[in-house]
Amino acid sequence: MSAPRRPVLAGNWKMNHGPSETVRFFADFLAMHEPADDRTVVFFPPAISFAAAKEATQGRPDVRLGVQNVYWEASGAFTGELSVGMARDAGAELVLIGHSERRHVFGETSAETAKKVRAVLAGGLTPVLCVGETLDERQADRAEAVVAEQLEPVLAILSADEVAELVVAYEPVWAIGTGVTATPQDAAAMHAAVRARLAQAFGQEAADAVPVLYGGSVKPDNAAELMSQPGVDGVLVGGASLDAQGFAGICRAAG
Ligand code: 13P
Repeated sequence: MSAPRRPVLAGNWKMNHGPSETVRFFADFLAMHEPADDRTVVFFPPAISFAAAKEATQGRPDVRLGVQNVYWEASGAFTGELSVGMARDAGAELVLIGHSERRHVFGETSAETAKKVRAVLAGGLTPVLCVGETLDERQADRAEAVVAEQLEPVLAILSADEVAELVVAYEPVWAIGTGVTATPQDAAAMHAAVRARLAQAFGQEAADAVPVLYGGSVKPDNAAELMSQPGVDGVLVGGASLDAQGFAGICRAAG
């Protein structure tokens, strides 16, 4: 029996909260959120607000920071991009990879996500690989197949040791920013499918080490039920993570 996975409460701010709002957010949030070593709390601010977030969370090692995206090259003529080394130097510990908006708004492919995961692991940071089906894909009964296709190129480049460094976030596209949440049962079924795919590739022990988070319209009033489902190891929260009080409530909902 492997060690229980610690709940992960993650806030993806997307393109919200500039540096001044970031300072205000953390003044409020840190006053409300008691440090707790039985859970991992992490924020993904916009890159331009990262330094403000880092400074605001000095002295609170219970709050971790990540970036929303990286490019796989180490440096060079790649206007607008960030490297893993830069993210690490700034104090990031985690990196979101293949978020639904990266895939569907910016056309990022699963092959590109694999290159990014490789670069993130090589740089010693933790990749949070986001996967999830669209409504059309779900209605065509292809949800599990789509998620398996998204996992495939990443699993192909990982060793069993490396897979233990991975975090997966299941975020159905139809639930993101819509107010429609997957039912706890649907979320549990998809999380089980993700873990089964990891186990098939690397064995059950390796698969059991990987936290699988749910994302998509998570709110203070539905977080506890979602996280009580088997195999749902935490949440990746968009809109509701922008509000200090709301996100502090979601952090408490981990039990
Ligand atoms: P919402 O919580 O706003 O639906 O966003 C989810 C998400 O995309 C987190 O990465």
